[in-house]
Amino acid sequence: MRPTFHHIVETMLGDHPARVGFLDESILCIHVAAGAELEEYVSYAVIAQPQGGAPFTHDAVSEEFIHEMTYGGTKLRINRRGAGIWISSGESIEWFQAPAPGVTKVGEGIEFRMMSQPADRYYGLGEAGETFEKSGYKHTLWNTDDPHHHPRQNFYAQIPWLVRVRESDGRCVGLFLDNPGRSMFDIRVGDELRVSTEKGDAILWVLMADSIAELLERWTHLTGRMERPPMWALGYHQCRWSYFPESRVRGIAAEFRARKIPCDALYLDIDYMDGYRVFTWDAERFPNPAGLIGDLARDGFRTVTIVDPGVKIDPEYSVFAEFSAHRNWFCVDGEKGTPFQGQVWPGEVYYPDFTRADVRARWGEMQAETLLDLGVAGIWNDMNEPANFDPPKTFPSHVVQGDFGLKRPHERIHQIYGHTMAQTSYEGIRAARPDARPFVITRSAYAGVQRFSMVWTGDNQSIWSNMAFDLALNLNMGLSGIAFVGCDIGGFTCDPTPELYARWIEWGVFQPFVRTHAAHDTPNQEPWAFGPEVESIARTMIEWRMRLLPYIYTVFAEAAATGAPVNRALMYEYPDDRDARYVADQFMLGQDMMIAPVLTPRTARRMVYFPGTAWRQLWTEAHFPQGWHIVEAPLGRPPVFFRAGAVVPMHPVRQHTSDGDVAEWTLAVFAVGELSGVLVEDDGATQQWRSGVEAITRFGGVWNHHGMVLQIGPREGSFVTTRKRWRIEMHGFEDRPHHIQVGGKPVAFTWENRVAIILVEDHIEGVEVVAEA
Ligand code: GLC
Repeated sequence: MRPTFHHIVETMLGDHPARVGFLDESILCIHVAAGAELEEYVSYAVIAQPQGGAPFTHDAVSEEFIHEMTYGGTKLRINRRGAGIWISSGESIEWFQAPAPGVTKVGEGIEFRMMSQPADRYYGLGEAGETFEKSGYKHTLWNTDDPHHHPRQNFYAQIPWLVRVRESDGRCVGLFLDNPGRSMFDIRVGDELRVSTEKGDAILWVLMADSIAELLERWTHLTGRMERPPMWALGYHQCRWSYFPESRVRGIAAEFRARKIPCDALYLDIDYMDGYRVFTWDAERFPNPAGLIGDLARDGFRTVTIVDPGVKIDPEYSVFAEFSAHRNWFCVDGEKGTPFQGQVWPGEVYYPDFTRADVRARWGEMQAETLLDLGVAGIWNDMNEPANFDPPKTFPSHVVQGDFGLKRPHERIHQIYGHTMAQTSYEGIRAARPDARPFVITRSAYAGVQRFSMVWTGDNQSIWSNMAFDLALNLNMGLSGIAFVGCDIGGFTCDPTPELYARWIEWGVFQPFVRTHAAHDTPNQEPWAFGPEVESIARTMIEWRMRLLPYIYTVFAEAAATGAPVNRALMYEYPDDRDARYVADQFMLGQDMMIAPVLTPRTARRMVYFPGTAWRQLWTEAHFPQGWHIVEAPLGRPPVFFRAGAVVPMHPVRQHTSDGDVAEWTLAVFAVGELSGVLVEDDGATQQWRSGVEAITRFGGVWNHHGMVLQIGPREGSFVTTRKRWRIEMHGFEDRPHHIQVGGKPVAFTWENRVAIILVEDHIEGVEVVAEA
């Protein structure tokens, strides 16, 4: 869209024409021309519109400053002598200081130079960079399909959004360079931060917030949030390049059910197609796709099909023929004036121009006719960096697309190919199934992709270092606004050792997205492929995923409402905790669970940092106070913890998410302190929650040396739950409690493995449970 602002001031920054616009008091935009005039600003990322309005003033105040603008409590000053910019609020909060020359021309682009403090910390940038915290490096963002990727080199989904957490006061500044070309974020020098475009104008959004949570709320206000996903998308998924023919797919499905390993989705990789022609089926391998998909669905498996962008050049092939008949439906080779030809799985291909609404609409229809109408549940977009086997491995610069009529060379919009493809798949599902919730998975992405799709981290390797690296990627994706993320469990290329697969699935099930995937030339990588011991570990871990779904779904609902990550770095939840700041080998799932994976071989224990409060271990009921502790972590018993005071809703294990109604749910309560928790329920499938067909239950109370008082609040909203009763598990009594009352009446309870358990009828009005120590 073309972003709009409350107030726009045109000026010069040094020799460069510039424009400042205010979205609100915490979000403003500085646009600096690389050439003689400002380029037109269109954005693939921004969706927020200015609302309300605060008082605005604009003066030339002093000899020094040619502009001083105030918008509400925010002040922006530009100095006379050069291109210096300052942004502040209140008396003393300096958010952004770029003393002259704060803006300079470098090559064909524009560079911002801002002051920073050596102890400031940086996060975000999507999949960019080896380390979790980003300082010390120069990051160059350019989405790349490189199967041998090196952690310091380019990845598939790099987001020009940098979070700066100020050491001085913990306040956060978010910088979004809305540049879909190549961008640089140079954080090598402690007292200066440089942000630049390689070519063209620099459009820098500055977002200000008192905390990182508030900053992400603003960032996802600007660029949009994930929608509530369908419940099945949160179950366990199984993939491989590729399961074929049909009999093999059926065999995999049968194996899951026979072995009682829960599974919600099976993926069809490129070999389901006829010669890799998108929107076709291989008639021999899959003679009756609708029959197969229907049978799988009856057994609780959703089918997800890969959809790559490259359209095989083959006049006999209807998709090619139809697209060719329309001028500029394929991306254009600007030198020849004909469609640009690249090479991917099908051989020679042309690439659709997903920046065009007509292309998106027709692609979406084809997706419906050939996939969704046969029962396909989700669409997997790959190779959309865009990938090209021929040099330069993507589009050359002279390829042009519609691009809001701007037709910039490819190098100026490279980053948005995957984003617009994901948008196409999403819009296609919305159009075909208006009441359903789309599920799209994409490899490449740009800022704001969370509106359309989740993002997986692409072709990782079955090596220990990659597993640890993927964890840090997930955390930075979450801090970049993309809450729904995950990596291929077990690693994609190479073959994992049984131990590596076991360790990977031990934490992989706590990712937002839980999928095992493996490359075509690797051994089998199903949970049972590594022998009985690993199978049993995988089953146990996937069962935990299924049990925790009510809690996990609630975390997703929160993420959809606020932009909070699902997997959170410790520093997100505990921003004032110094020890938590750089921790990236542990993570939180929502605010009540913490996972400290074992990321090295032959490791039976590890150091774990417990932030903020005390934590209770999943397997042992051991209780760890705040601080660093060594935790035993034998294979099959990964360090997983619940926060003291958490009230966590759970389900019984089911083999898939639509496996019958559940009458008895578990409420796990963890000593001690103020109790808190929430449960968001809806049908997990449709858009009806938007009109209030959801149920929200809040849990509160306190647990101290007298015992536990738990309040289950009244249910808000009109969704009718299947729950008939709660099985309340109280974790943390030293001895069997003296007695337990529900709604003032004594009840019978059991005392098993130091957990007190009662059954309580579910009441829409809520109820109070009192247990005396
Ligand atoms: C790419 C994808 C991978 C997929 C393969 C074949 O490498 O990243 O997940 O299996 O292509 O489609």
